[in-house]
Amino acid sequence: MQFLPKTLLAAAAFAVLAAAPAFAGAADDAITARQACMKANGGAMGAMVPMIKGEKPFDAKVVADALGKAEAACAGWAGWWGADTQKGDKVETWAKAEIWTDAAGFEAAGAAYGKGFAAVKAATDDASFKAAFNEFGGSCKGCHEKFRRPKE
Ligand code: HEC
Repeated sequence: MQFLPKTLLAAAAFAVLAAAPAFAGAADDAITARQACMKANGGAMGAMVPMIKGEKPFDAKVVADALGKAEAACAGWAGWWGADTQKGDKVETWAKAEIWTDAAGFEAAGAAYGKGFAAVKAATDDASFKAAFNEFGGSCKGCHEKFRRPKE
């Protein structure tokens, strides 16, 4: 690269420095954290679906453990949806713009999830578990339909 003028080289070096994650990162961290929370929710579903299908008997401990993991992974929820997280720097997000244009709707979808979560957590037998599961599972769908882009 000897033929490049010195100033251009300096400019190129500066561009690389500027692209380094000095301020970048905060949005990526929030996106990564909320996706991990969602993965834990997927894990909770994975633990519960066999009981819904009748492949496994209802087991309150398995349900409680799965919910506990989701709860722990989602503990920081409120801090992950700043307007600056609509797009990641290095991390891709499937969050839709509607989260920010319809904040009340997004909050309501979160509240429906909280209600379903409490219901499955409180289930004591197969019948109450199945009824609560519909509410819980429905809350995932309800939010995703409005607020998440499908992954191709
Ligand atoms: C209040 C809204 C809301 C609720 C409720 C919700 N999700 Fe999500 N979910 C999202 C959004 C938004 C994304 C995309 C996040 C991103 O990419 O930044 C997502 C992404 C996901 C993903 C993909 C994560 C990844 O690796 O990229 C899974 C799996 C998932 N959700 C499962 C669930 C399950 C299971 C439930 C219910 C038990 C649920 N979600 C409830 C909003 C919600």
